[in-house]
This record gives sequence, structure tokens and C-alpha cells, in this order.
Amino acid sequence: MDWGMKNRFSRIIKPDSGRCVMLAVDHGYFLGPTERLENPRETIRPLLNLADSLMLTRGVLRSSVSAESNTPIVLRVSGGSSIVGEDLSKETIITSIEEAIRLNASCLALSIFVGSKYEYQTLKNLSKLVNEGEKYGIPVLAVTAVGKEMARDARYLGLACRIAAELGAHVVKTYHCLDFRKVVDGCPVPVIIAGGKKLAEREALQLTSDALRDGASGVDMGRNIWQSDNPVAMINAVRAIVHENITVNQAYDLYLNMSKMKSAMRKSPSART
Ligand code: R5P
Repeated sequence: MDWGMKNRFSRIIKPDSGRCVMLAVDHGYFLGPTERLENPRETIRPLLNLADSLMLTRGVLRSSVSAESNTPIVLRVSGGSSIVGEDLSKETIITSIEEAIRLNASCLALSIFVGSKYEYQTLKNLSKLVNEGEKYGIPVLAVTAVGKEMARDARYLGLACRIAAELGAHVVKTYHCLDFRKVVDGCPVPVIIAGGKKLAEREALQLTSDALRDGASGVDMGRNIWQSDNPVAMINAVRAIVHENITVNQAYDLYLNMSKMKSAMRKSPSART
């Protein structure tokens, strides 16, 4: 890796620990105004300084995040389909490399849909993006999106992650699954996990802990943080697992205590002083 690539990559995956807490708020690019992300500025504001990096589209970045923020940006640059459209896998590259540079992106993110109707197109998108990223020293995060008919098992996810790495992705995002260690072992670049649909907080913390135990380098988590009733408490609990190796019980206690403190402060505003 040249200096620029290495420098940007170190803003995404912490070089000392090899871990990361990426906050995903890119869901609107195909889902529209998802629950609790209807107003991205409001959702992002309390979490921005608690995330190691923020994953989002240029539209939400420009409209909803202060340009004075120091949180590294993972710019989603694939899209072109919607939840009500023909096929979710029909994606193209929607943001130019020049725009990514202007926006000071530390990383580019793009989905691949292995086994889907548009597999070839999405793998071509990834190859093209890696070529562009290499020119300017910007790493690429490949998102292994799963079609409705695809099983989220180690065989399939391992296939998708390995293909992403072979095509040059610098980091890969996938889902945790049974035998996840095999997925990580078969992928020569760091693997991070998506949180997926909203779970009870304790379950989401367990998922985080299990994924790290099985070799994940961290999380790219969205709904399980900002759809929680206490997103700040939740991101702190996730951070503590990823960066401080605390147990799930300890992390859940941290979540509960921070949530209680918040509710006490709401009831008695004078307690803030
Ligand atoms: C999905 O395509 C998006 O890229 C999300 O960034 C990703 O799924 C992570 O978010 P969540 O933890 O909500 O699944």
C-alpha cells in the first residue's frame, strides 16, 4: 500500500487494534426514509463523535453532516435500484472518484450481489472502483449484499467475501453466520459485519461479541444502533466490546446504566448541572 492508501485505511481500521466501529446510515439509498433515519441529521448528530467512521451517500453527507466534522467518511458509491424496483442487484457506480476526493472520503463502499441476476455487473463495478481507488490511494469496502433467495451461510458468504478480496477490495462487509471463522479464514482482507435487522439490545451485543470472537475486525452497524431507544448508550456498549474487549454482560450493563442516566436526566433537567 502506498502512503495515501495506508493513511486512509488506518482511519477506517485502527492500526493498533485492527478493529473498527463504522456507523452505517446509508440505508436510504434504496430504502428511502427508513424508521428512525427519516431525518438523517437528527439521527447522526449525537452519534457522530462516537463512531470511528461514518458510512453514507454523498447526498446525506452534504445535507446532514457538518463539514467541520473529523469523523472519517466511508462513501457509498453504488446504487441505482430501490426496494420497489425491478431488482435490488441492478446497481451501478453513482458517484465519481473526483467527487469522492472533493468530499474527502477515506474509503469507498460498493455492494456486490454474488449469485444474483446482476452479479457480473456488480463485480465489474467493484473492479472498476478498485482501479479508480488505487489511482488515488482510496481503499474500497465491498458490501456482500444478499439477495432474498440467497442463504446467509458460511459457504455462500465465504464465496462472496473471497471474490470481493480477489477483485481487490481492501475490506469486506458481510453477515455473521454459523462457522463464520471459515468466512474470515478464506478472506485475505479484514472482514467486518453488518448488524442487520433490529434485535433486542442484548442480542445485538452478543452478535458483536460472537463476530469478534470468530475473527471479524469490527462492525459496520446501523439499525441496531439508531433504531435502539438509546442509540448513544448502544454505540458506547458496542464500542466497549470492539475496543475494550468487555464481555456481553458488561456491555449490556453499560447500555442499561447509560440508558437509566439519560432517562433520569430527562425527568430532572436540573440534574445536568
Ligand atoms: C445495506 O445495504 C447497508 O449498506 C447497511 O450499511 C448495512 O446493512 C449495515 O447496516 P445494518 O447494521 O443496519 O444492517
